[in-house]
Amino acid sequence: MNVDYLELTDLTVSFDGFVAVDRVNMSVLPGDLRFLIGPNGAGKTTLIDAVSGLVPATGTARWAGENLVGRKVHRIARLGVGRTFQTATVFEELTVAQNLDIAAGARRGLLTLARRRTSLPEVVVKAMDTIGLTDLADALAGTLSHGQKQWLEIGMVLVQDARLIMLDEPVAGMSAEEKDETGRLLQRIAADLTVVVVEHDMDFMRAFATSVTVLHAGKVLAEGSVAQVQADPRVQEVYLGPGEHSKAVAEAVLGEGA
Ligand SMILES: Nc1ncnc2c1ncn2[C@@H]1O[C@H](COP(=O)(O)OP(=O)(O)OP(=O)(O)O)[C@@H](O)[C@H]1O
Ligand SMILES: [Mg+2]
Repeated sequence: MNVDYLELTDLTVSFDGFVAVDRVNMSVLPGDLRFLIGPNGAGKTTLIDAVSGLVPATGTARWAGENLVGRKVHRIARLGVGRTFQTATVFEELTVAQNLDIAAGARRGLLTLARRRTSLPEVVVKAMDTIGLTDLADALAGTLSHGQKQWLEIGMVLVQDARLIMLDEPVAGMSAEEKDETGRLLQRIAADLTVVVVEHDMDFMRAFATSVTVLHAGKVLAEGSVAQVQADPRVQEVYLGPGEHSKAVAEAVLGEGA
């Protein structure tokens, strides 16, 4: 049972004096499927970057009893923190299984990786099952659909033993069926792991989020259940602009309950 949780305290990221993430406090427990939403430039990606060590930050990001702020990227990854990027980074000329094997190898070391093996490591087999790509194990990643590539990307994080997984806009560009599949995949993963999903897709958020944090101009604007954030006038204002508080307009953008 995973008992690790993520706790951000006053997490702040500045770029040359511009504060992109501004004293964010946020906790995510295992079993939660937390969505992080907010308009373009709100600081969502920068927040994930800070937790994974890609940009310097101040404040604390507590995970597994350690403060991740100030730690190096590879050290953070070794603590079980994984993330995906907005653009897929799979090796197109390699198969699904090979992509996963290499990602798993990032932990095993190059020597073990170079050794020829006749069977796939258990962790790869398990990840293929989780992401639903077992039947496509020998397919070249370049031949996968956009959605399947995103699932492979998620699998590549899973094989690295990540227990905190942060996904940056996983369903952007997916078909309706792929989005649905992805939602169910995230629900399966979130049952055991701590999952943070950055998304712009409000329908997807409504269907699968168990809790939501809304960022605006680097700050946490609201947090709670889907219904709570949708009903929050400050959230409606950020998404609709001031003076557009008609219930009908709010519902059109944020959905019922707004
Ligand atoms: N390396 C950087 N140097 C300077 N400014 C940056 C850098 N990275 C991000 N920013 C700025 O920080 C702010 C937050 O950017 P970020 O990419 O985190 O937003 P976001 O919420 O992920 O937006 P989107 O929904 O468009 O992906 C933006 O104003 C952006 O221009
Ligand atoms: Mg972003």
